[in-house]
Amino acid sequence: MTGGFAVRGRALHAPAADRLELLPDALIEVDDAGMIRAVRPAGAVPLPAGPLVMLAPQQVLLPGLCDLHIHAPQWPQRGTALDRPLRDWLHADTFPLEARFADTDYAAAVYDDLVATLLANGTTTAVYFASRHLAATIRLAETCLRHGQRAVVGRVAMDHPGQCPDFYRDASADCAEAETRALIAAVRALPGNATPLVWPAITPRFIPACSDDLLRRLGRLAAESGAHVQTHCSESDWQDAHVRARCGYGDTAALAGFGLLTRRTVLAHGIFMDDADLDAVGRAGAGIAHCPLSNFYFGDAVFPLRAALDRAVHVGLGTDIAAGASASVLEVARTAIAAARALESGVDPAIARHHRGRPGARIDAVTAFWLATAGGGIVLDLPIGLFRPGYAFDALLIDPHGAGSNLAHAADDTAERLLGRIIHTADRAAIRRVWVGGRVVRPAADGPPV
Ligand code: GUN
Ligand code: FE
Repeated sequence: MTGGFAVRGRALHAPAADRLELLPDALIEVDDAGMIRAVRPAGAVPLPAGPLVMLAPQQVLLPGLCDLHIHAPQWPQRGTALDRPLRDWLHADTFPLEARFADTDYAAAVYDDLVATLLANGTTTAVYFASRHLAATIRLAETCLRHGQRAVVGRVAMDHPGQCPDFYRDASADCAEAETRALIAAVRALPGNATPLVWPAITPRFIPACSDDLLRRLGRLAAESGAHVQTHCSESDWQDAHVRARCGYGDTAALAGFGLLTRRTVLAHGIFMDDADLDAVGRAGAGIAHCPLSNFYFGDAVFPLRAALDRAVHVGLGTDIAAGASASVLEVARTAIAAARALESGVDPAIARHHRGRPGARIDAVTAFWLATAGGGIVLDLPIGLFRPGYAFDALLIDPHGAGSNLAHAADDTAERLLGRIIHTADRAAIRRVWVGGRVVRPAADGPPV
């Protein structure tokens, strides 16, 4: 597909949540299917025949970033109405916007801009909620495929008459299930997607928006199809209380009962999960999309990330656009560090120090980097996020000399200092080139030279 090639230079990745590895002069060989064939110290082996990309000394290669939770049709809404409570924000701002995606031409224009912008920000894999429109959702999958972005794409299912407005609701559980089935079939059959690069997802919006009948049908479909599943879980006090009142227990137990906790399930948020919930998620092999920026606005609390990691639950990061306004997973990673520190110290100075926070809640930049890369890959059950044979070559070329870059740097940085600077100060201008599955996707073929 791409023709094999090799890359030589500095590379940085995190093989575990507490382990950073700097490869000071690596030779990464990529096969013609875009998979990593070998990673060796350059100099130990003769250079392979075929194209070779040589990094400059100040440049460094990172695995591509994974955004586990983003609402594609909310792209035009970023940065607005963030002072409303979740339920009001959904009904007054979000549902009217998503309803516009009945117009597939409008959807195509928004999605084209969205996917191009995410790639420029280093998001090589994105897990999308689309709208409840089948045609526009297929268009999103096609857009990802055309731009070369790895993606999981779901048509949102929402049929509950008490929680969804007349202008934006599935007519019935039957219709929502049928269109979800159609989406799975259509994405799997997209021309050029045999590998595949784009995956379909079963996407009940959240329990409040769906009838029990629909949730049960989608759980059966998850088992039958093996497709990814995504939904919102334990996001806010309002959602948590609503589900407890309706189902008699919390979101996690309810989703498990509907058959929606699978190895390929992505649960957005999980803020109010207790230890039993975290263990249930862990046993199912499901994962959590931690969305710290969004949670400051709509979550009412900070997700206990450290507790989840200590219980070996799969976790990665999500922007949750538009509840989170940033298109950058690097920005989400630095927010995850800040949020965990706020949880550890507590935030109200009127409370005595020893009562104020949750000891041991902090994470460091290595963990944040792992969440943004390999952690996301584990949640999705895909071989991404590491420079290792058998993994896809999804990578970012980081360069502090990129025009307009704010990236701090020093020639004698250790691996930890280099990573800290990237996580805390890198922006899109420092991302000089982006590969997905061995294909250069940024700059675009018709863009300016690197
Ligand atoms: N819960 C149900 N729908 C949504 C949504 O679109 N965004 C967020 N943040 N939470 C939700
Ligand atoms: Fe969300």
